[in-house]
Amino acid sequence: MARKKIIAGNWKMNKTPSEAKELAALLAPLVNNPDVDVVYCVPAIDIVPVAEAIRGTNVQLGAENLSDQNSGAFTGEISADMLLDAGVKYVIIGHSERRQYYHEDDAFLNRKVLKALEKGLIPILCCGETLEQREAGVTLDWISLQIKSDLQGVTAEQVAGMVIAYEPIWAIGTGRTATSDQAEEVCAAIRRTIAEIYDAGTAEKVRIQYGGSMNAGNCKELLAKPDIDGGLIGGAALKEEFGRIVNYNK
Ligand code: 13P
Repeated sequence: MARKKIIAGNWKMNKTPSEAKELAALLAPLVNNPDVDVVYCVPAIDIVPVAEAIRGTNVQLGAENLSDQNSGAFTGEISADMLLDAGVKYVIIGHSERRQYYHEDDAFLNRKVLKALEKGLIPILCCGETLEQREAGVTLDWISLQIKSDLQGVTAEQVAGMVIAYEPIWAIGTGRTATSDQAEEVCAAIRRTIAEIYDAGTAEKVRIQYGGSMNAGNCKELLAKPDIDGGLIGGAALKEEFGRIVNYNK
């Protein structure tokens, strides 16, 4: 069965609650494509207003982070139950910005993946290499290591429903996109890693996104690749352009 494409916006630390409502209203008429799962991953404080703003549309809600704990004395953290109660379905885990600036390591991210799955949230698990790693020729080994570490204890059935996002760090917010061949090479390698850990059938089910300066101009070529099942969009998700990416096949 063909994998349904999934185009997710990662709003990062942008948009106040009132701005978020405005953006959702601006995008509402532009993001209707039945061939695509459309997700807005928004700052925690925007989840409630955006949930309200997308009610009755095809858009689904995502968070940008979650706690590895259930509840209690963890000041500043947000639990899976809170996200679920607010209508969240997806959660980004292991974005390179969290790995780099907040020192989230693979053991911690693995606990977040397990917590999200236990609670019924769909992880969008991010991986990606630095420019130095790419130039040293260790990209595929590095990505495979990240995936294997972050999926410890995850069952085949669980991983089949997950989303994995390949985001080369050198392509994020830089305007420098991976070529479609570079992106496909790594996305195919991620699928092979899943087949290696689990089995070929599971690997065929998992959806793999590309992220890193994806825009209305380059999305069509990237999304035509056999192992690229969607995009995780930063900058271009904050404007009307996002609608053109969602409708890449029109
Ligand atoms: P940009 O699309 O702004 O490069 O960001 C990509 C990204 O980090 C999405 O998670």
